[in-house]
Amino acid sequence: MTTTAKEPAPNVGKPMPGPPIGLLAELTHRCPLQCPYCSNPLQLKSVRNELTTDEWLRVLDEAADLGVLQIHLSGGEPASRRDLEPIVEKCANRGLYSNLITSGIGLPRERLEKLAAAGIDHVQLSMQDADSANCDRIAGYEGAHKRKLELARNVRALGLPLTLNAPVHRHNLDNLEALIALAVELGAARIEIANVQYYAWALANRAALMPTRDQVRRCLGVVQAARERLKGVLAIDFVAPDYYAKRPKPCMGGWGRGIIVVTPAGKVLPCHAAETLPGMSFENIRTHALGDIWRNSPAFNSYRGTAWMPEPCQSCELKEKDWGGCRCQALAMTGDAKATDPACDRSPFHARMVELADTESATEPPPFRYRR
Ligand code: FES
Repeated sequence: MTTTAKEPAPNVGKPMPGPPIGLLAELTHRCPLQCPYCSNPLQLKSVRNELTTDEWLRVLDEAADLGVLQIHLSGGEPASRRDLEPIVEKCANRGLYSNLITSGIGLPRERLEKLAAAGIDHVQLSMQDADSANCDRIAGYEGAHKRKLELARNVRALGLPLTLNAPVHRHNLDNLEALIALAVELGAARIEIANVQYYAWALANRAALMPTRDQVRRCLGVVQAARERLKGVLAIDFVAPDYYAKRPKPCMGGWGRGIIVVTPAGKVLPCHAAETLPGMSFENIRTHALGDIWRNSPAFNSYRGTAWMPEPCQSCELKEKDWGGCRCQALAMTGDAKATDPACDRSPFHARMVELADTESATEPPPFRYRR
């Protein structure tokens, strides 16, 4: 049974975007890997709290009715759910483009064939490094690299499109050329090279992960050259590192604008890390309809649009491009979720952010605090 989000929305009267384009379905927090930059919260949800199969199927029906186009099946490791096949099948039946975001572990050929038969549209495989020993070390899982390569080859053998997800940081940035070459060798159509965003586990591991300014500079050259060399062969998406930036990124494409996140326990969030924001509560799909949450949730409306922005954002000509950057990063760096994202050089905290990056990257990295 669902009820309506009753509290008055603080941003009522502000521009309401259309339906979300994508829904990130965090099916589970269970994962064989222990990456130190995982976007899951530090307090992981146990299997006992996870939505049931029927509840996920209802979420997908509601997403389709709302106008969502793409479902990103994520986790944790989504293959840890035994009901991944009916979930994929529901996406196919409702005309939802399904993108499986996987560690590559727990997906042998037979299971992948079942998912292909169920209608999976696309596979996104995380790749910690091209070097197998370093990949296993970062993932905290011996043999991870070998199994990832097997999965990638099976994906292509079944004719499914493949993207490599390569989160980059101090421990793998110098192998970027090899990561790009690996993507080509595996037949990926795309590689997403994303500098780690410092929230959740990555924030806890920031000093261990922070790249040096020189590493970042070299990586920009590698990406630019590879883009020219591999035109028509491999698309290269690149997410620049905030700590060395001058302008913030529109986190999630803007708060409450295009993406909706459903956690394993059914909470509906505007971004992965939204639960770190104090004083904010989030509706649950078990008690509220997805469309109602999208339109009326006070949490979604708090930072939607531009009316909430303080100066200098309010009079900034870029405010409808970056949508204020990242609220979770603003909170982590300044203690105030409303503050200007310190990735912006107009923020009074920007210099502090740059100093942190320079200092942390110049010191011996501490051991990883693995996600457990
Ligand atoms: Fe929450 Fe960026 S991660 S707004």
